Amino acid sequence: MCGIVGYVGTRQAAPILLDGLSRLEYRGYDSAGIAVRDEENEHVEVVKAKGRLKNLMEMTDSGHAVRGTCGVGHTRWATHGEPSTINAHPHYSREKRVVVVHNGIIENYQDIKDMLVRKGYAFRTQTDTEAAALLLDSYYTEAGKKGLGPRERALDAIRNMMIRVRGSYALGILFGDQPGVMYATRKDSPLIIGRCDGEMRGHMIASDVPAVLSYTRNVVYIDNLEIACLTQEEMRVYNIDCEQIDKAFVEIKWDAASAEKDGYEHFMIKEIHEQPRAVRDTLSPRIKEREDGQKCLDLSELELPDEELAGVSRVYLIGCGSAYHVGTAARTVIERLAHIPCEVDLASEFRYRDPILEPRGLVIIISQSGETADSLAALRLCRERGMRTLAIVNVVGSSIAREADAVMYTWAGPEISVATTKAYSTQLAAIYLIATKLAAVRGQISPEREQQLIEDMLALPDKIERVLSDKERVQWYANKMAACKDVFFIGRGLDHAISLEGSLKLKEISYIHSEAYAAGELKHGTISLIEDGVLVVGVATQPDLFEKVVSNMVEVRSRGAYLFGLTTYGQYAIEDTVNFTVYVPRTEPLFATSLAVVPLQLLAYYISCAKGLDVDKPRNLAKSVTVE
Ligand code: M6R
Repeated sequence: MCGIVGYVGTRQAAPILLDGLSRLEYRGYDSAGIAVRDEENEHVEVVKAKGRLKNLMEMTDSGHAVRGTCGVGHTRWATHGEPSTINAHPHYSREKRVVVVHNGIIENYQDIKDMLVRKGYAFRTQTDTEAAALLLDSYYTEAGKKGLGPRERALDAIRNMMIRVRGSYALGILFGDQPGVMYATRKDSPLIIGRCDGEMRGHMIASDVPAVLSYTRNVVYIDNLEIACLTQEEMRVYNIDCEQIDKAFVEIKWDAASAEKDGYEHFMIKEIHEQPRAVRDTLSPRIKEREDGQKCLDLSELELPDEELAGVSRVYLIGCGSAYHVGTAARTVIERLAHIPCEVDLASEFRYRDPILEPRGLVIIISQSGETADSLAALRLCRERGMRTLAIVNVVGSSIAREADAVMYTWAGPEISVATTKAYSTQLAAIYLIATKLAAVRGQISPEREQQLIEDMLALPDKIERVLSDKERVQWYANKMAACKDVFFIGRGLDHAISLEGSLKLKEISYIHSEAYAAGELKHGTISLIEDGVLVVGVATQPDLFEKVVSNMVEVRSRGAYLFGLTTYGQYAIEDTVNFTVYVPRTEPLFATSLAVVPLQLLAYYISCAKGLDVDKPRNLAKSVTVE
């Protein structure tokens, strides 16, 4: 949700800002803007454009036309106020005394606006952000009367603004009368600082690491309610009481190339192909070989003693979107293997349902970005209630990773495409590890079964590779089906969880209406929507439910549905019922989700391509949903 970049240093700022923003476009892309302080003419130049970043690039000759070495930039995902040039960030006060870029939502902006209007401030835009900019201006004016120096005056204004606003924010701030200084602060929206050395000496701020990676690998994570003051030479960070605090730089291990397309047409197809590697990287560091040649799980990173895991009375699985779908699959895997009752919740529902939580329960929060507002709020609620929390997160150092008691990182690497693929697959892998560990410490599986499960996990990357090798068939089929209007995905048990994900993938990038149903539920209402030519994707990877799902497919076929069957090699009887079949390799049935999801990702991808849509940046969506 919105991307922020800032730079202060020795080089021209605007090209750096635009380059950084181009790596953050996945966060929002309905308008973009930059503000750069032109030292020679002593004013702040603001340039904004509606639509994709390329419009702003064209207007500014990729930034070269904008002078100055200190500036902030923004790519927007609209919340308050339509996508338009006027509503694009940066927002600023009279004569650009205060200029801000913002990611998040100022919840009490209307109160602030009313108060500022009474004081004589005029508002130009419909955004909540403008209230923060003008509020800062008002506090900056008041601080000026206290006889403070420039830095103290800015800190005082920012601190008062932080106390006054409710909601979430990451802010990059320039004060028109402070050349060569950039301020930043955050609450519940991510923001990092990068230190640049050599000929571009200085500092950057950004919503996410890829924006700074071409310039530096040394970053600092700004924590909630901290304020950073950055110049070419100096980085100072303060707490909300304006006391200076020490912050340590972290070295980012992955490089800029990991966030490039690498010859693929889109990030999504690149990331689909990275799944074997990503799953292997997530599994293998946690599987060790003992002296007797047997394999065992090493989850010591979680710092959860075996006795504690053995005593877990219930598992709460919480996430949003695809992460919730992982939770849905996880419920079956954990219940079957470890015999622990599980509940799975959408984070946005969980936080408001006043959940009854068992004291010996384990909360598992699943999130690729580690910044999803609802998931973070659910995590905090659980922590307030004294629950043990474990986060499955992809982005190192993200808020959820830092606030949970324990974290299991998925090693998917940076995921750029809005539609998640490799992060989803690595979350599943993390669940298999946790479920098997829980089962083993609780004595629910024999050592032989544990060995077999580990072997089956380790075989998954090669099997995903095999599924990918059949992608042309799916592509051919996708081209045929690109014009369809409604698609239903049906399955039972784990196949229902796969259907949920397949349906979401299709709708988010192809804009085709689609729904996922538990196959047995169709006849309780939804089957009335089935008519001639409606595409139904039947997922049947679970041997014990195969015949049941096929029966449900027969029911829709008799009402005119066109059938795509997805099952495992060997289940050839499905061909008697369906029009088109895709087979995936056999595996432990509890792990079949990892294989069956791949053809569904490919189906969505190729349909989106056939329709000529923007696969990586689907309309109305953003990669990281940092607002409620
Ligand atoms: O970063 P998170 O995993 O917390 O994000 C959750 C959802 O927003 C995300 O999975 C979303 O549904 C994906 N775009 C689906 O492809």
